[in-house]
Amino acid sequence: MDSIVVTGGRALAGEIPIAGAKNTCLKLMCAAILSEEPLTLTNVPRLSDVSTLSQLLESLGCEAALLQEGRAMVLSAAEISNRVAHYDIVRKLRASFNVLGPLLGRCGEAVVSLPGGCAIGARKVDMHLSSLQAMGAEIELKEGYVHATAPRGLKGVEIEFPFVSVGATENAMCAAVLARGTTVLKNAAREPDTRALADCLVAMGARIEGAGTSQMVIEGVDALHGTTHRVIPDRIELGTYMIAPAIAGGEVELLGGRRELVAALADRMEAAGIEIEDTERGLKVSRANGRVTAVDVATAPFPGFPTDLQAQMMALMCTANGTSVLEETIFENRFMHAPELIRMGASIDVHGGTATVTGVDRLKGAPVMATDLRASVSLILAGLAAEGETLVSRVYHLDRGYEHVEQKLGAVGARIERVSE
Ligand code: EPZ
Repeated sequence: MDSIVVTGGRALAGEIPIAGAKNTCLKLMCAAILSEEPLTLTNVPRLSDVSTLSQLLESLGCEAALLQEGRAMVLSAAEISNRVAHYDIVRKLRASFNVLGPLLGRCGEAVVSLPGGCAIGARKVDMHLSSLQAMGAEIELKEGYVHATAPRGLKGVEIEFPFVSVGATENAMCAAVLARGTTVLKNAAREPDTRALADCLVAMGARIEGAGTSQMVIEGVDALHGTTHRVIPDRIELGTYMIAPAIAGGEVELLGGRRELVAALADRMEAAGIEIEDTERGLKVSRANGRVTAVDVATAPFPGFPTDLQAQMMALMCTANGTSVLEETIFENRFMHAPELIRMGASIDVHGGTATVTGVDRLKGAPVMATDLRASVSLILAGLAAEGETLVSRVYHLDRGYEHVEQKLGAVGARIERVSE
């Protein structure tokens, strides 16, 4: 298994291109099930999660063809020959649970494995299921699988989510586009990924209003057609590489970056003393000299501070002047990077969903490992600022969500390499 070795202490300079968004692309791929005609996606990120979901779609009878060296993909679901999403794949990639709404909407039945828990929390799917039930689906849980049928088709209905869920909003939206009548989704997710999914569905002929707000109105149509859709830039990759020059020092331009995708992060970073400038090609981030100032952060659904950037922000706060309080409100177990950062000399106290971080002068390189994607990359960021060598193992987590992290950071001057054990 590969590891990443980072030798800290070098300021960064140059530019990093931002890839297409993983979490948008995965949901767009699921939406291909909704039409007999091909859906072409461009700006596709080359990630193992994308390959895993392609395998699942192929097992359902979709054809998935890669073009432009994997930067574009044509998904053709002319015929859905199988309606079962097996545990083998769903357990590897929770986003594959989002084939449920499209399969049910298109075929009137679906059998999808329950994803199970994962390192960051229990991650229930009750709201996914209750919204489909409200639309008339019959749902049974048998041997770890959700068996959903809608023999008389799905019908439009008003659904108010008790709290914001990206995945449940997206599954319900995909089911509703082919339902009879009008569906209203209240307290819907406003994430750019959800909005991008709605934009793509509209380009396929769906009738959706209010995407990007907390209330969406979806008028069912008889069928969707094919389209070509460009995946938006990955705001979490963008945020991660914005933190790189903030923690290591220097100046980096993030090509394709847009402030509105990361406004909450940009606000906290500017409060910490980092300069962020909008440029013609993206965003330029710089830390001239000295340590950043400690700031507090609480995660929240979009447009709040993303949970997927909390670990990276914690790494930055480990090097700040002063004490910061980081509150994780989305997932119950998303501080697994804290003990690893402590191994690098950080001072962190975790109590429930709150971490209190007191910045230190200098982190120290150490062998570390992480159990999820964002935690892993936070250790690489910490390694950029640490004295000596940091060896991050279990990098398969990283490869799920970051394209060639070592090449992108290496190109701006970081001393970083991948080693095979
Ligand atoms: C999406 O997960 C993202 N994944 C996650 O990114 C991200 O952290 C999360 O949204 C929050 O922004 C994808 O889009 C593939 P939720 P999702 O449903 O949809 C609870 C990454 O690193 N909940 O918004 O699964 C849930 O347990 C990943 O790229 C229920 O209780 O997240 C959580 O506490 C990790 N019942 C909260 O809601 C449900 O039916 C929000 O989860 C659904 C969710």
